[in-house]
Amino acid sequence: MHKLGILGCGWLGIPLGLHLKTLGYDIRGSRRSKAGVSDLNDKGINGYEVTLAKNQSSGIKSFIEKLETLIISIPPGRKLNEDDYTSKIQNLLSNVDSTDIKRIIFLSSISVYGPSGGEYDELSPINPVTSASKAVYNCERLITSSPIPSIIIRLGGLIGEDRNPIFQLQNRKIRNPKGRINFIHQHDAVNGVAKLVLNNQLKGIFNLVSPHHPIRKEYYINIAQRFGLPTPYFKSDPAIIRIINASKIVDLTSFRYDVDNLLI
Ligand SMILES: NC(=O)c1ccc[n+]([C@@H]2O[C@H](COP(=O)([O-])OP(=O)(O)OC[C@H]3O[C@@H](n4cnc5c(N)ncnc54)[C@H](OP(=O)(O)O)[C@@H]3O)[C@@H](O)[C@H]2O)c1
Repeated sequence: MHKLGILGCGWLGIPLGLHLKTLGYDIRGSRRSKAGVSDLNDKGINGYEVTLAKNQSSGIKSFIEKLETLIISIPPGRKLNEDDYTSKIQNLLSNVDSTDIKRIIFLSSISVYGPSGGEYDELSPINPVTSASKAVYNCERLITSSPIPSIIIRLGGLIGEDRNPIFQLQNRKIRNPKGRINFIHQHDAVNGVAKLVLNNQLKGIFNLVSPHHPIRKEYYINIAQRFGLPTPYFKSDPAIIRIINASKIVDLTSFRYDVDNLLI
């Protein structure tokens, strides 16, 4: 059985691991605490306790032993120092050299394209502005320059039944109301990543973002109603229309976006 490890097996990693298990993969996942590890075991994923740190990581050697595919699904965190996340991934890569790992899949973010208006695809120049997006882009470069073949998946904002930015936007004025949404539903994120895992000839960069880009104001009013929340307030700043095109994965694989209308 093909051994695949999801380093940082959390909100996205758990359903992804369970889906890949149904496709015949031998899945292991990592968490930082014993409680997290037993949660993974209870859900049917072999749990390992791993913490990536700047200088000394723990648990990584046994986690990567005999792995063939490594998925890195650790977020940079909001309040980070750019170098910290980069050092953690650098530390990880130094452990991965001379192992059985044949492919690394890095779950990155569309934030690397930066905040300016325009339409972006995988060939567009990048322009990371925040510390988190700069750190993520540094890690993309580290991974693609490693001798192990890799896939970089730039995900849109993650949403799902239990996750939506509207919850953090309560009592705040939402910026750029005339701009567009670039989100990916958990269901499509799982299926899209799995499709790229399954096709072991693929490498390079893939965006994963719903092809539906509703106007932000329309989207947030709709989603607030759906969750029974008060109607949100909006700033009246000038529109920045930024659209991330993620059709490459559809062109090169049999993956299709199921959640292609974010307003229903
Ligand atoms: N949020 C978004 O909208 C968004 C957008 C684009 C891309 N992404 C990317 O999508 C991927 C999955 O996101 P997610 O929301 O599923 O992540 P998550 O659940 O927040 O985190 C995944 C796991 O990473 C582990 N982790 C965090 N820091 C770690 C460290 N220093 N060492 C070892 N493990 C660590 C955590 O373990 P514990 O639970 O044990 O702490 C957590 O369960 C990430 O790579 C993220 O960057 C997210």
